[in-house]
Amino acid sequence: MRRAKISIIGAGNVGATCAHWAAAKELGDIVLLDIPDRVGVAQGKALDLACCAPIERFDSRIIGTSDYKDIAGSDVIVLTAGMPRKPGMSRDDLIQVNVNIVRDVCRQIKEYAPNAIVIVVSNPLDAMVYTAWKVTGFPTHRIMGQAGALDVARFREFLSMELGVSVEDISALLLGGHGDDMVPLPRLTSVHGIPITDLLSEEKIKACVERAKVGGGEIVKLMGTSAYYAPASGSIQMVEAIVKDKKRIIPSAAYCEDEFNIAKGQKGKGYFVGVPALLGSKGVERIVTFKMTPDEQKLMDESVSHVKDLVKTVQNLFPDLA
Ligand code: NAI
Ligand code: 2OP
Repeated sequence: MRRAKISIIGAGNVGATCAHWAAAKELGDIVLLDIPDRVGVAQGKALDLACCAPIERFDSRIIGTSDYKDIAGSDVIVLTAGMPRKPGMSRDDLIQVNVNIVRDVCRQIKEYAPNAIVIVVSNPLDAMVYTAWKVTGFPTHRIMGQAGALDVARFREFLSMELGVSVEDISALLLGGHGDDMVPLPRLTSVHGIPITDLLSEEKIKACVERAKVGGGEIVKLMGTSAYYAPASGSIQMVEAIVKDKKRIIPSAAYCEDEFNIAKGQKGKGYFVGVPALLGSKGVERIVTFKMTPDEQKLMDESVSHVKDLVKTVQNLFPDLA
């Protein structure tokens, strides 16, 4: 059986950590690509990681490069190229600089890896997934964004801290855009099937919800740049679902029209928004919908309207992406 090929664009904090998790899980061969000025960083990190193989016992070939020819034949590409936020910045402040970067990268992906499935990580996430879709022209099932995997992990971890139970027993759902208006759903969150509403007070649930929403900002304040262990872990959870054709349902920024009323009846004019996505070897194979309560739908509508504003900003700043 052929090994999967996973290319990671951007060998910075998130990219290199993605390579780390992918190697540790022996998901396939790994290409770590950065700009020519930073090719030494990409090569050095790839070599350092490759030397873990005898200790960690994985058989992945890992290379660092700045040459897009090396991504040819990739099954999955994780796009982490772009500026992270600094204290005081919102994800949206990165839009101008990161659209330029994501656009350049996606032109290369389209040329050298036209059959790949692309997972976008760069921020502001929902606008960058849209940019990647516009530039590559790939079918929507092969373009998605990582945010929900991370946000739901944060929510589960904060609930686990509060309840003193294993995170493994906490199942949670969180939808919407990757902003502070993301939509955690306590109604659909449980500890081994027991609703958390039976286990925690409304205030405690609210505190966990709020902490999950601003979890990224909490880390930026602490260390001066954005998080990377959990973002990379979430991204590789998606890669694993795809390369192993696991059919896992992972909240992902996936293309929606009628789903959750995101762009009802607007054929070809949908948005990439965090929804429960079934991930398998074809990419986003299905979006799992369900009936929201009026309050949940209201929160979802607010979050989606923020995603729409971000996309509008991209279209205004870069008319070629309209
Ligand atoms: P970083 O600064 O450590 O790494 C970014 C890397 O991208 C650098 O090595 C840089 O040289 C490279 N790069 C820049 N332009 C490039 C190009 N044209 N081609 C190839 N590589 C290029 O930043 P970090 O912390 O790794 O974050 C990367 C991005 O991921 C940021 O936009 C950040 O906001 C985003 N992020 C998204 C998360 C999510 O959940 N969606 C979570 C954490 C970060
Ligand atoms: C995070 O949520 C910055 O999007 C990044 O940590």
